[in-house]
Amino acid sequence: MATNVELLTVRNMSKRFYGTQALDDVSFNLAAGEVHTVVGENGAGKSTLIRILGGIHEKDSGEITIEGTPSEFTNPREALDAGIVIIPQEMQLVLDATVAENVMLGEIPSKKWLGFIPMLDRRRLREQAGEALRKLNYHGSLDISVSRLTFAERQLVVIAKALLHQAKIFILDEPTASLEQREAERLFEIVHSLKEQQVGIIYVSHRLDEIVELSDKCTTLRDGKVVDVSTRGHIEKENIIRLMTGRDLAELHQPHKLEFGETLIEHDNALSLRRGEVLGLAGLLGSGTTDYLRNLFGAGEEAVAMKLSGNEVQLKNPIAAIKHGIGMVPGERRNALIYDLSVRDNIVLPHLPEVSKGWRLDSKQIDKLVADLIEALDIRPRDPKKLVRFLSGGNQQKVIFARWLIGNFKVLLLDEPTHGIDVGAKVRIHRLMREFTERGGGVLFASSEMNEVVNMSDNIIAMRQGEIIATMSRETGEYSEGYLREALGG
Ligand SMILES: Nc1ncnc2c1ncn2[C@@H]1O[C@H](COP(=O)(O)OP(=O)(O)OP(=O)(O)O)[C@@H](O)[C@H]1O
Ligand SMILES: [Mg+2]
Repeated sequence: MATNVELLTVRNMSKRFYGTQALDDVSFNLAAGEVHTVVGENGAGKSTLIRILGGIHEKDSGEITIEGTPSEFTNPREALDAGIVIIPQEMQLVLDATVAENVMLGEIPSKKWLGFIPMLDRRRLREQAGEALRKLNYHGSLDISVSRLTFAERQLVVIAKALLHQAKIFILDEPTASLEQREAERLFEIVHSLKEQQVGIIYVSHRLDEIVELSDKCTTLRDGKVVDVSTRGHIEKENIIRLMTGRDLAELHQPHKLEFGETLIEHDNALSLRRGEVLGLAGLLGSGTTDYLRNLFGAGEEAVAMKLSGNEVQLKNPIAAIKHGIGMVPGERRNALIYDLSVRDNIVLPHLPEVSKGWRLDSKQIDKLVADLIEALDIRPRDPKKLVRFLSGGNQQKVIFARWLIGNFKVLLLDEPTHGIDVGAKVRIHRLMREFTERGGGVLFASSEMNEVVNMSDNIIAMRQGEIIATMSRETGEYSEGYLREALGG
């Protein structure tokens, strides 16, 4: 069991980015064999904290002590030498190389190339790689190519590699954000086996259920400050929400009204979206929902024929879709944002033709619109001129969402719209989806979080391997998470 050896101590750490105090006098500690989770609203400072620990950012002030020794590092390599590693969301693996090779790769002194290492060393390295993987409960082959592994298995390879590097402190930033349930459970097993090896884990997530399940300790950040540190047994969802946001969330579930208007989109007999409707597109990871939405937005490989308000159309590109009143929030933020433009310009971006011609909005009106949207979505900081690059992940997502709330959009296509978004903002986005339909629009939204699809939708279509395999309606009885999971075979 945990012997409570203090692995890491952070004392009075602060970090400022121009006008933003991202971290304000933060203290934090981590013991061997412990999972210390970090929660907070979008922009609270979670990523900043772990990026400093991982050597990506430099702190302004404060002290970092590792196993009793004061440590200074200024890049990820030095952080790793000190024993700290960030497990990135996007794995940096050589896909064509085997599992064993990937684990060994980082260990190989940079001057030597794989082929020049004496056979004996290679054999020993391979043994160590195998051992590290076995400790993590990987029982697959060491000689298959990494490209054949699932996402969770790839994470395991990255972790094994770090273990071989003698890393003692593992940092996971929203590791389950794009994992489906079964993969997430596999990751939790990995976390448990790391604990058994007396590794310390810093774990950032917006999913409060897993926070409660995994935490030995939980630190809540708000506006860069530590507002609470709780220990296992005293960590509870409602309380975390209150601490994060400074208020209660009473209005989590809103009643649905089932009154739909004319059909907005029809495609292939399988899809029909009406005015006033939130239609859920449920699918496990890799089920084809992303491609499906892209096609409807005219951003797929070929133009898809569909009916828009009863008229046959073929959308050749997104501009055509936008002209027909269809907006889209893609799953990959970086496909939708121009990082070196301001919040304001990113919001008005798709509207530029209208802004210059039909609408006759002057820049004052635009400023007003943008200010209202920043307020409505609680985009932080409240600064329309801020470059999107400097916003936290969740706030970037809100900017993409905001742009389709301007003008006469009838249809919103949303791919995992609340991905990486904190609980408060999630409720706000759900409410905006509802309001959009109440004003006569239709929303088609894809999510791999089954309870989100079930709570938010009026009707659901379930997709597997690019095919619609089932539909569910709130009006008929067959409408539940269990039924949906069964349909999806997950
Ligand atoms: N490189 C940067 N330059 C300027 N400001 C930054 C930079 N990185 C972060 N910030 C600001 O610091 C604050 C904290 O951001 P951080 O990314 O740590 O939040 P977070 O808690 O990880 O949020 P999220 O849940 O949205 O990922 C935010 O106000 C953000 O805009
Ligand atoms: Mg973050």
